[in-house]
Amino acid sequence: MLTLGIESSCDDTAAAVLQDENTLLSSVLTSQDQIHTRFGGVVPELASRNHLESIVPVINEALTRAKTTLDDINLIAVTQGPGLIGSLLVGFSYAKAISYARNIPCVGVDHMAGHILSVFLEKETPAFPFIALVVSGGTSSLYLAKSFTDFTLLGRTRDDAAGEAFDKVAKLLGFPYPGGPVVSKEALSGINDSIAFPRSWLEKNSLDFSFSGLKTAVLNHCNRERQKNNPLNRQDICASFQEAVVDVLVEKTILAAKLHEIDTVVMGGGVSSNPRLREVMKKRCGQEKKLLFIPKPAHCTDNGAMIALAGVHSYKKGMNLTYDQDVYCRSLLA
Ligand code: KG4
Repeated sequence: MLTLGIESSCDDTAAAVLQDENTLLSSVLTSQDQIHTRFGGVVPELASRNHLESIVPVINEALTRAKTTLDDINLIAVTQGPGLIGSLLVGFSYAKAISYARNIPCVGVDHMAGHILSVFLEKETPAFPFIALVVSGGTSSLYLAKSFTDFTLLGRTRDDAAGEAFDKVAKLLGFPYPGGPVVSKEALSGINDSIAFPRSWLEKNSLDFSFSGLKTAVLNHCNRERQKNNPLNRQDICASFQEAVVDVLVEKTILAAKLHEIDTVVMGGGVSSNPRLREVMKKRCGQEKKLLFIPKPAHCTDNGAMIALAGVHSYKKGMNLTYDQDVYCRSLLA
């Protein structure tokens, strides 16, 4: 069975061809980072216009690299939401059009399900149930995953997502978008916790997140240093900020595993490619005797392969897209 996965929820146009449940034949992605970097973040209108230009070449390239054509594709899996409506519409409309024209079944995939399941693209895969931490530019959420199609939301951010906080802190330090990779690189030369940035734990046993206070604390620190005419130590700021984010993400994930008596932890989303987060999560899971599974960095960020994989499992459960369905901006996984 060959599945074509299509992803266009934000600023990357991606497509992949998956054989059966987890044999990846190709995965192609065009990044729009260069277009958005001068604005310090994603400009939705520009994103959707660029998806329009990239969608056909990206899908064709994915088919070519997989040495196949649309004639052999048995299923189309496409991101239906959450994301930027204009961006989602490009991939979704294209998927519906080829599904209708070629009579190929099509399933709509929730982008969060893609991130939760992206670990199944790897050689070593977890057993259900597991706790999934999904951290990206648009979300920071904890899920209890009971099967390939059964996810319970345990907590989510009340304000900024973790990736959004990385992007905003990078912007105020004068670094380009996306901020995560550059902040984590700068942090390598800084001293963790050299600046005491706050951790927002919220109420006792809360599995929600909040990162806007931390972002404001970084801004206040920069303003205070500038008022004193002190040069900003960007490396120390990045390292201390990153440590505060990592601390909260890791401890809340461990707390979720303890509260729900789950022994396996999974991560997904662009921020889970952060080396410090991977290192600390590994250490803490080891201490707490939890098994940890993390996709390789290319499968953490947005990609078409995870959409194809999640789509295959939805299809096997009997889900099928009807042509009157539409995209949505907020995740339906609750
Ligand atoms: O999952 P993703 O590719 O796109 C969505 O937001 O859905 O995640 C992108 C986010 C951006 O906010 C980016 O700054 C962040 O992931 N990111 C990182 C790292 N690499 C990407 N954040 C922290 N450390 C990184 N190494």
